[in-house]
Amino acid sequence: MTDSRTHQTLHDMIVPPTADEAARQEYTYSLRYHLLADLWPGTRKAWDTKYAAQFRKDHGRDPVKRNEIAKIMQGDSYWQMGSSLRRINQEIMWDTYGEKIEKHLDDLIAKAKNYRNSNRKLGSLMLDPNLEIPRYHTGVDIHIQPGGYHTDLVDDDVFAGALYDDVIWMFFVHAGGGLNDSAGRSIIAWLKQQHPKFAPKRILDMGCTVGHSTLPYVDAYPGAEIHAIDVAAPVLRYAHARAESLDKKIHFSQQNAEVTNFPDGHFDLVVSHLMFHETSSKAMPAIFNEAHRVLAPGGIMVHQDIAPGRFMGDIVDQSSMDWSTHYNAEPFIAKLMDLDHGQLAVDAGFAKKTVQELDIDGLRDAHGHRAVGSKQHITYARK
Ligand SMILES: C[S@@+](CC[C@H](N)C(=O)[O-])C[C@H]1O[C@@H](n2cnc3c(N)ncnc32)[C@H](O)[C@@H]1O
Repeated sequence: MTDSRTHQTLHDMIVPPTADEAARQEYTYSLRYHLLADLWPGTRKAWDTKYAAQFRKDHGRDPVKRNEIAKIMQGDSYWQMGSSLRRINQEIMWDTYGEKIEKHLDDLIAKAKNYRNSNRKLGSLMLDPNLEIPRYHTGVDIHIQPGGYHTDLVDDDVFAGALYDDVIWMFFVHAGGGLNDSAGRSIIAWLKQQHPKFAPKRILDMGCTVGHSTLPYVDAYPGAEIHAIDVAAPVLRYAHARAESLDKKIHFSQQNAEVTNFPDGHFDLVVSHLMFHETSSKAMPAIFNEAHRVLAPGGIMVHQDIAPGRFMGDIVDQSSMDWSTHYNAEPFIAKLMDLDHGQLAVDAGFAKKTVQELDIDGLRDAHGHRAVGSKQHITYARK
């Protein structure tokens, strides 16, 4: 069933908003859409009309580094207004959804426990209270999400999961579909096109959060045993309950994708969606190594995330991405944009001839919006 106001697919762990809450959510969403679609593109116009010619005159060349542009734009009043509004919108977004979830938190925790204790369990949940949460999560409230993904505010907490399920659906300006699963569905559509006969027996989704992208693999590859890992307990408790309520069998476990406890060669398909930009320069190669280790010979790896700079238009367009690094508490995005993801796959042991780094067409929702940003960037390799 879909909420006629929010277009979100309702499941047992979603709390439908009251009329007032729905109105506030709509305001937050509309402001975000307006800022991204109408206002922020004006910063590009400001560069082209106010600063590009002067830069050329001063330096005898066009800018070659993103920070050459950032330094100038940060002093521009239009850019400052846009930046402040984007930051405020992000903060309002967490408050708007967070307040609604706080009201229902006890109930959500109880429901999640029921799914864990139920006799009709499909999948499973394994938490590891001793897992060391990487510093790239404890050091910053990522994208200003209060407490990040990993903080347990109360025993058996699911707050971070419930918040993410609501917010991220809005964050992608509704383009993820009712279950916010279009990143997963896009990768699957591409995989099916490239490898129509591929029938993985075991699949691993790294950095699954609440399983938005994991769930479509259950239907796409029936019979496959599906595992999903994340470092954060509150999102995993929620993910497990959400999957059970949607009748999807998934084995969730709290693990660091840099070093998992799965045996060598255990999986035929290892995927991740939007995980890398929230890791670090050290973690990323370690995760590629781990994906290579746990894949069986012939197995496939597909990582989807923000595209490196060279896939993103010219240097002025690329510099726009740095906003999130400096003002939205996503410190690794700038570095990720400079890394050679394909080379990381080769360094991890994948044969160069199998490695591809490409943009694939993201699926569109009923309104024609493309899934998760404008395109899906993937790093693909076969062992
Ligand atoms: C943007 S969310 C991913 C969203 C999710 N894959 C989806 O498609 O809906 C990033 C997730 O990666 C997880 N993560 C980051 N680093 C990780 C690591 N080293 N091991 C496992 N999970 C990690 C975070 O806890 C967070 O839940």
